[in-house]
Amino acid sequence: MKARVTAHADYTISQIDDRLYSAFLEHLGRAIYTGIYEPGHPTADKNGMRGDVIELVRALKIPYVRYPGGNFVSAYNWEDGVGPRDKRPTRLDLAWHTSDSNAVGVHEFVDWCDSVGTKPMLAINLGSRGLDQARNFVEYVNGPTGSYWGDLRKANGRAEPFDVKLWCLGNEMDGPWQVGHKTADEYGRLASETAKTLRAFDKSLELVVCGSSHSDMATYPEWERVVLEHTYETIDHVSLHMYFGNRAGNTANYLALNHKLDTYIGTVASTIDFVKAKTRSKRKVTISFDEWNVWYHSNAADRAVLDGKSGWPHAPRLLEDAYNFEDVLQVGCILNTFIRRSDVVRIACIAQLVNVIAPIMTEPGGAAWKQTIYYPYYFASLYGRGTALNLAVESPGYDADIAENVPYLDISGVHDEAGKTATFFAVNRNASDALELSMDLKGFGTPQVIAHQVIEGADLRQVNGLDNQNAVGPKAGTGMSVDGNTLTGRVGPHSYHVIRVKLS
Ligand code: AHR
Repeated sequence: MKARVTAHADYTISQIDDRLYSAFLEHLGRAIYTGIYEPGHPTADKNGMRGDVIELVRALKIPYVRYPGGNFVSAYNWEDGVGPRDKRPTRLDLAWHTSDSNAVGVHEFVDWCDSVGTKPMLAINLGSRGLDQARNFVEYVNGPTGSYWGDLRKANGRAEPFDVKLWCLGNEMDGPWQVGHKTADEYGRLASETAKTLRAFDKSLELVVCGSSHSDMATYPEWERVVLEHTYETIDHVSLHMYFGNRAGNTANYLALNHKLDTYIGTVASTIDFVKAKTRSKRKVTISFDEWNVWYHSNAADRAVLDGKSGWPHAPRLLEDAYNFEDVLQVGCILNTFIRRSDVVRIACIAQLVNVIAPIMTEPGGAAWKQTIYYPYYFASLYGRGTALNLAVESPGYDADIAENVPYLDISGVHDEAGKTATFFAVNRNASDALELSMDLKGFGTPQVIAHQVIEGADLRQVNGLDNQNAVGPKAGTGMSVDGNTLTGRVGPHSYHVIRVKLS
């Protein structure tokens, strides 16, 4: 089978916002406790943060980490997580039927962000709480000393404002499962007034309003229209979420699901344009895709805790999906979609980062390791920065439940003009046939292949577990070469590739 791609340096989609490679950490399961924070762990730093996890996170060069939820935030009192630890209350977490000691709060989280080289994106509780607490939280985090909240922050050990610029106005407020779920009108009004109030404090904040929890919601995409009509002039991004699963065990259908993601982004982009036109606005609102990942492996195991049969455990194992090789291909396709839609998706957060549907796993008191999906996320974050190329792709395809003629080759390209490189991320969705790739590289000068990494050949169900941490991972690829301006090579069946080209 043959696949032909044309890339031209002048034929581009958008400058990619680095925040496309952000992540998410929620007070859920073991994401925080025994995930990033474990005071007794042999690698723990002076703040009780696991050094082995810091190292794995640091390598990902994550621009922003969203915190503290998620569903958790909709009943969260941020005040519980500040001040002396021994005075912090243990609270019941109504979202996940667990309890939380509040040993980690906003101070510890922002310090951890500094340790791993990332920035915080904080979410506000607009479920059980409202405008007043939102305002107090933002003033506590960013306000000057000499005022009530700034002075309290100083008394709690931090005189300098944290200077957090990116704020989410609630989480999944369209979801009936959410504490404080609202109609689009109710939420739109509240978000608009909250945004107005926060901007009275600081005009430069970047605010994210809740869009749909997923594109199968009955209220989608009317939700976006109504909420944006209330908020268009006061917010910057609309938040979308989507999780992927292969419950039917059908790989071909599973690997076609980024087509649904693409349609979802396109529909919300059109809704943004509609509201912009209707409100005669000059403002550009974009998408914050602040929760995405594969999530289905752990569903059955989680039932007992979620149904309350385990009482109110602290940091139980929840949403601990063990990712396999098939999920590498899926995550590769998802990230390709974000690169191709980087004209409108400005922020995207893999959900989540440690232990909970995460690329990084830990054992309490023991090892930390990379799940299979760590790798496509790592490569995209490192090499997916620059200008997204508008590739012309000719590939044979197949009919899936979600769409007809889904191309076997899923590919994105990024031109790093400063670094004089181009990187192509490619997935072959075909189970049995290789694709003979021929790629014309035009307007780039003289290209030369400098690196080729491949993940292929593993059983689709193979995972990286505690006892076999390196079962699935990248290897140096062979056979990609350039003759003149044409790059050729073999993209094997069910394989993921990173092809890097030096330009001169
Ligand atoms: O990431 C897990 C959960 O998925 C989040 O708490 C919620 O926002 C979404 O439904």
